[in-house]
Amino acid sequence: MSHTNGQAIISISNLGKIYETPTSSVHAISDVSFDVEAGEFVSVLGPSGCGKSTLMMIAAGLRTKTSGAIQVNGRDVDGPMDDIGIVFQRDVLLDWANVIDNVMFSIEARKLPTKEYLPNAKRLLDSVGLADFYEARPYELSGGMRQRVSICRALVHDPQLLLMDEPFGALDALTREQMMLDLQSVWLQSKKTVLFITHSIQEAVFLSDRVIVMSPRPGTIDLDLRIDLPRPRSLHIMETPNFNAYMREIRETFEARGVITHV
Ligand SMILES: Nc1ncnc2c1ncn2[C@@H]1O[C@H](COP(=O)(O)OP(=O)(O)O)[C@@H](O)[C@H]1O
Ligand SMILES: [Mg+2]
Repeated sequence: MSHTNGQAIISISNLGKIYETPTSSVHAISDVSFDVEAGEFVSVLGPSGCGKSTLMMIAAGLRTKTSGAIQVNGRDVDGPMDDIGIVFQRDVLLDWANVIDNVMFSIEARKLPTKEYLPNAKRLLDSVGLADFYEARPYELSGGMRQRVSICRALVHDPQLLLMDEPFGALDALTREQMMLDLQSVWLQSKKTVLFITHSIQEAVFLSDRVIVMSPRPGTIDLDLRIDLPRPRSLHIMETPNFNAYMREIRETFEARGVITHV
């Protein structure tokens, strides 16, 4: 795609993870290989328990791999990464702090200069419709607004890479659609590289340049599908034949593995 320059930001080859517990060993992911280029929006799509979160946590340096190799920005991942932003399914906002302080928490935690980054925090909040909520506390916000704050917090230090683990999974359908649009526009403005984990086929096709489909556990890659749809994408694109052809190809990939899909 035109917005990428062919440089790999994430490079994963033959990655494997086996969890050893006192009673058993769980083979979570097996022989996973793919690259994500600078500026690309890539979704990893797979059924519950196939190792999506495991993959993301390894990319973030928050969990160790068992085998294979993973590099981010050309360096082996061997501990928590600084130059990334993470958004989880359940937001981890500080209840006693207001919205702007929650966003600026990323800056304080990294000991970056607050004054320099404050305009960035405000610009991000404004871009997701939270201009009037700087002083609000998290408990005053809806689930969608809380996740918007989480996205701003993940981006405020201007990381190269954004990792998102089912960020809209706990939201209702209408909120989720609005979040897809907001994320798309934030991404189009920021040109970040995004690795987006989801179990929604629709979400993956709508948002992505590429969708990587994983098999049931141990998760392996069954399909690496380029989504060649023009941007910005409106919700109506989901009614088009091209969109539905992508949906069908992914669904058939799941069905070949015995995974039951809906939507
Ligand atoms: N810390 C852990 N210890 C043991 N098993 C784990 C651990 N974390 C995840 N697993 C297992 O690894 C598999 C993949 O989990 P996960 O990566 O969370 O999948 P997903 O995010 O796709 O639902 C699951 O069977 C899960 O039970
Ligand atoms: Mg998960």
